[in-house]
Amino acid sequence: MALTMQNTGLLLGQNHIDGAWVDAADGATFGVADPATDDIFTTVPDSGAEDARRAVDAAHRAFATWRKVPAKQRAAIIKRWNDLILANVDDLGKLISREQGKPLAEGKGEVVYAASYVEWFAEEATRTDGEIIPSPAAGRMMFALREPVGVIAAVTPWNFPAAMIARKIAPALAAGCTVVCKPAEDTPLTSLALVKLAEQAGVPKGVLNIVTASRAHTPEVVDVWLDDARVRKITFTGSTPVGKHLARRSADTLKKLSLELGGNAPFIVFDDADLDAAVEGLMISKFRNGGQTCVCPNRVYVQDGVHDAFVEKLVARVAALKVGPATDPASQIGPMINARAVDKIARHVRNAIDLGAKVVVGGERVNGPQYRSENYFAPTVLINATPSMECACEETFGPVVPVTRFSTEADVIAEANATPFGLAAYFYSNDVRRIWRLADALESGIIGVNEGALAAESAPFGGVKDSGYGREGSRHGIGEYMHIKYVCQGALG
Ligand code: SIN
Repeated sequence: MALTMQNTGLLLGQNHIDGAWVDAADGATFGVADPATDDIFTTVPDSGAEDARRAVDAAHRAFATWRKVPAKQRAAIIKRWNDLILANVDDLGKLISREQGKPLAEGKGEVVYAASYVEWFAEEATRTDGEIIPSPAAGRMMFALREPVGVIAAVTPWNFPAAMIARKIAPALAAGCTVVCKPAEDTPLTSLALVKLAEQAGVPKGVLNIVTASRAHTPEVVDVWLDDARVRKITFTGSTPVGKHLARRSADTLKKLSLELGGNAPFIVFDDADLDAAVEGLMISKFRNGGQTCVCPNRVYVQDGVHDAFVEKLVARVAALKVGPATDPASQIGPMINARAVDKIARHVRNAIDLGAKVVVGGERVNGPQYRSENYFAPTVLINATPSMECACEETFGPVVPVTRFSTEADVIAEANATPFGLAAYFYSNDVRRIWRLADALESGIIGVNEGALAAESAPFGGVKDSGYGREGSRHGIGEYMHIKYVCQGALG
């Protein structure tokens, strides 16, 4: 089965600036590769400073009118965007799978997930109420009004090329902000297609601008946005070092920031847990997108009494996972995004083995005539993992489960929290007192209790500590794109 699109108008190779589809100012391009084959199948602009500046100029001009469009009209446009995304689920799913590698069912699932944020924020647009404040003095009326912050810059990752764009851009547009966006080098195509659909939905010219850039040119683009005081907010999903760089570099223009950064999620299974449910939850949370998810469990802790039984059940499930390209409908784990990603996974596994871990299943790259690139890694379970291993200290971002045995609740809480990161944490237990103790004690922005699938448009997504700040989705998500203006009217008698 080939990933052939019906609507070839969604395969775009130009930037979108001020309502026009344009090449980079200097005509430069870079290739987009299919991770399943490493074949470069199309090119997009390799934008630079000039393109970045033009995008801000357009967004800044458009802000003056977009912020005045009544919320109900903005909502209607964003709702149409949602409808168009859903009308193109198949093609967008194929595009995601082609450039990102995830199995087609997951690609289509991501489109629906992305649309759920667009629909949610279309509805939220009409609920950005302010407040009337009881005045402490006679003859005064006091108000807190909510306003869009202005031009926002969205810098998005490759692991969810549709969902991450949706949950940044939809609330920004809903709030009345205008947008400049730079998608990840590996996955620019889905973002361009989404912008095309936004244009068709009626987003006016200049309101939503997108420029693509190679890894080498990305700093040039982002530096323009960092230095430009007209850009009032940066929203970024990606690594913690880059997030910290953006925070430092935003200081001179005091931009608002939302940073969804790295994770190192613990997944804890207590003796009193339902083991089958825990295995199921781990399979869902760990192997979604081949393990390339910020909220993926990265460290699995299993209590003494159930350790061996849990590992046995887990290994049976992991060994049965089918690795393959998105063109094979049976594939459950696709290729990793690129060779660098596989190198890191292999390095983590090698380091764990060197430090005493044992591979129970997997442990190697997957090769063979049916695999047309070197980007596949076998779903892997390691036992005897320890805190000093690389796989316990940094995100592996691949299909590897390192299992550590533990004895007491206090020990596992201390170990789970012994990381600079705090995005997601999971635990399985049937003891209601323990559940609330753990929910309180774990240092994490998101907690899964007896549940492995946490993300939803109505839920606040975001971390603490080195996993960043700001929340995406939920009724809090739109507030990230607004500020509060206090208005006091006096002399009212
Ligand atoms: C992410 O990996 O950053 C997002 C995952 C999700 O939306 O569940």
